Amino acid sequence: KAAMESGVARKPIENWEAYHQELLTRIGIDQKLMNRIISQAKQDPKRVVFAEADHIKILKAAQVVKDQKIATPILLGNRKKIERIIQENNLDLGDSLILDTYEEDERRERYAQVLFEKRKRKGLSMFESRRLVRDRNYFGSIMVELNEADALISGLTRDYSKTISPALQVIGVEEGINKVAGMYIILSKKEPYFFADTTVNVNPTTEELCDIIGLTARAVRFFDTEPRIAVLSYSNFGSNNGPFPEKARLATEMAKERYPHVLIDGEMQANTALNTALLREHYPFSELAEKGANTLVFPDLTSGNIAYKLLQEIGGAEAIGPVLMGMRKPVHILQLGSSIREIVNMVAIAVVDAQNYNKGL
Ligand code: ACO
Repeated sequence: KAAMESGVARKPIENWEAYHQELLTRIGIDQKLMNRIISQAKQDPKRVVFAEADHIKILKAAQVVKDQKIATPILLGNRKKIERIIQENNLDLGDSLILDTYEEDERRERYAQVLFEKRKRKGLSMFESRRLVRDRNYFGSIMVELNEADALISGLTRDYSKTISPALQVIGVEEGINKVAGMYIILSKKEPYFFADTTVNVNPTTEELCDIIGLTARAVRFFDTEPRIAVLSYSNFGSNNGPFPEKARLATEMAKERYPHVLIDGEMQANTALNTALLREHYPFSELAEKGANTLVFPDLTSGNIAYKLLQEIGGAEAIGPVLMGMRKPVHILQLGSSIREIVNMVAIAVVDAQNYNKGL
């Protein structure tokens, strides 16, 4: 106010994305990892279907990914609303494919048949299938399933569980994987950290936790980083007993055997995992004693989800994700209310995921 009165008004921020980037640079958050993914995406942009394209944030993100040649957007949603938002905001998305599920009679009928074939022995009737494909998460998932799009981005406006269910029903898990899981990348002043499972499995069994460790190790390598995995609990190497420490301990043993080329240790507390001085002094036998962990696997969804959200809000870190791991085809579900920048990041990840998928990786 004082500045306004004295005639030196603060300049309005014209480009929020650039402003945000500048802030991150100022507080020292390392953006290298994400910049690398974005450059990789640009090398071979893919068709990404946005299931909530009648939302201003999605359309602005679609504009960014189109302009930067990260992806070719397919806009799924209420056509009138999409066109109105494009016009009101002077967006230049006119040549993008816009699909309104209510108008697409031919596709809807075809997709209903696909959904029915997949779910007819799971109690789904053809009548119900025709109704479900009006839902954009089903419609978009079937587009990816039929290779009419390369990846699906959804979840900005709906609960995670309601968004992931159609993708699980239509696309499902990749061969050899039992459960999909979600990972967050935490960009901080130090190196990037990876957290899992932060979004899907409420209370994984020992076996499932072992699967999550394997999926996470692969996903961390996807980001050109060698994982150093700590399996977390409220105890250090048997210092406390109880079902949760025991689950983490057994899953660690199982994972060490199953993934002998990955550095894994546990069960341990979060500070132990990240503090090499502590590890060296008290647990020098640990495989992580030399460098500490860069990847934290949580014993359940409650702890994983709370941990990343706390860091995101008060930790001076940027959280990127959730990266959905183990789906048979690229589907990524946004955090409710993600920013434009977070959506763009997830699109870049989805594109690289689709590039790898096409290479059979
Ligand atoms: N991995 C692979 N397949 C799964 C998984 C999984 N983790 N979970 C369920 N499935 C299977 C189901 O068994 C089912 O198989 P079927 O085809 O043989 O019937 C299929 O996927 C479809 O599942 P649904 O019946 O639609 O869903 P389900 O009731 O099994 O619930 C869900 C799955 C939605 C993931 C549930 O576990 C859940 O709600 N998890 C918590 C999600 C959440 O609230 N996250 C926190 C917030 S997210 C955030 O912070 C960004």
